[in-house]
Order: sequence, then structure tokens, then C-alpha cells
Amino acid sequence: MLKAQRTILLSLIAAAGLAVSPLAISHLNDKEMPQSYRQSYFALIAMNFGPMTAMVKGEMPWDEQQMAAYADQLAALVTLDVLRGFPDGSDKGTTRAKPAIWEDKADFQSKMDDLKTAVNALQRVANQGTDRKAIAAEVAATGKTCKACHDDYKSKDYLY
Ligand code: HEC
Repeated sequence: MLKAQRTILLSLIAAAGLAVSPLAISHLNDKEMPQSYRQSYFALIAMNFGPMTAMVKGEMPWDEQQMAAYADQLAALVTLDVLRGFPDGSDKGTTRAKPAIWEDKADFQSKMDDLKTAVNALQRVANQGTDRKAIAAEVAATGKTCKACHDDYKSKDYLY
């Protein structure tokens, strides 16, 4: 993003009275492109998966079509190559990605593959429509693959 664009964006955010810290816009940091790539990627994942878990928990009305649409979008997202966002040397900066990722990329990739497998199963069942129990089970199974990776590779707070 150009500096001028960023300034406009920041002043718009400020004008809207929203609290803003530099970390809150780190997705757009052109000095840390790999970090921005992966954080934006996971933000998209979460923005599709979040409403699905909210429906399962009853925090949002259950909508079959929306459920299927979110599952389709999640399935599209897991086809992207997220390892592009983790090149050597991108372990520092504004990030919650633990250094362990770069010590065992194969394990990290296999945890990504687990997410992919779970999301594909979720997409199938969500598009069949009516079996809420089955859909809820696949949402839970997908959530476990997020947690499995985060437990090993994502810190709660920014690291540097
Ligand atoms: C293979 C590992 C892996 C899987 C699977 C995974 N994540 Fe993450 N996630 C990470 C890492 C690593 C980061 C930290 C990236 C950074 O800060 O540079 C992250 C960051 C995030 C963030 C913060 C993004 C931001 O704005 O900085 C959210 C939200 C998130 N993940 C949600 C999810 C959800 C929801 C799932 C499952 C549907 C999931 N993740 C699956 C590894 C994973």
C-alpha cells in the first residue's frame, strides 16, 4: 500500500473514532510482506470459519445456505499456498509465528494438510444441507486442526 493511501486509511479510521494501534493494521505492512500475507490469509480463514462456529454454538441463527457458502469459501482458501507466507528470514517482525515453524516446515505443512482435509469434509457435509449434527461435528473437527497448529506454532502475543 502506498504511504499516502495508508495515511488516508489511518485518518479515516481515526475519524471513525476507532482505537487504532500500528499492530491493528499490520496486515498492510509493505516492509513485512510475508508476515502480511500469512496474517491476512489467516484473518480470511477466521472470518469464514468464525460465523460457522457461531451458528453451531447458537450465537447466530443457523442458515443452511450461509453455512454452505462459508464452507465453500473456506475450501477455496485452503487451496492457497500458505507456505509462501513463511519464507526463510520472515520469522521476525510483527508476528505471532513461532520460530519452531522454520525448524520443521514439513510438520507445519502436515498440520496445514490436516486443516485442508477437515475443511473438505466440512464442505461436503455443509453442501448436503440438513444434517446439523453432522455439520457441527465437522466444524468441531476443523476447529481441532486450527488448535493443533496454534498450540505448537502460534504464540498468543506478538513475539518481537
Ligand atoms: C498449519 C498451522 C495453522 C493452522 C492449521 C491454522 N493456523 Fe491460524 N495461524 C497460524 C500461525 C503461525 C499464525 C501467526 C501468523 C503471524 O502472526 O505471522 C496464525 C494466525 C491466526 C490468526 C491471527 C491472524 C492475524 O490477524 O494476525 C487467526 C485469527 C487464526 N490464525 C485463525 C485460524 C483458524 C480459525 C484456523 C482454522 C480454521 C487456523 N488459524 C488454522 C497457524 C495456523
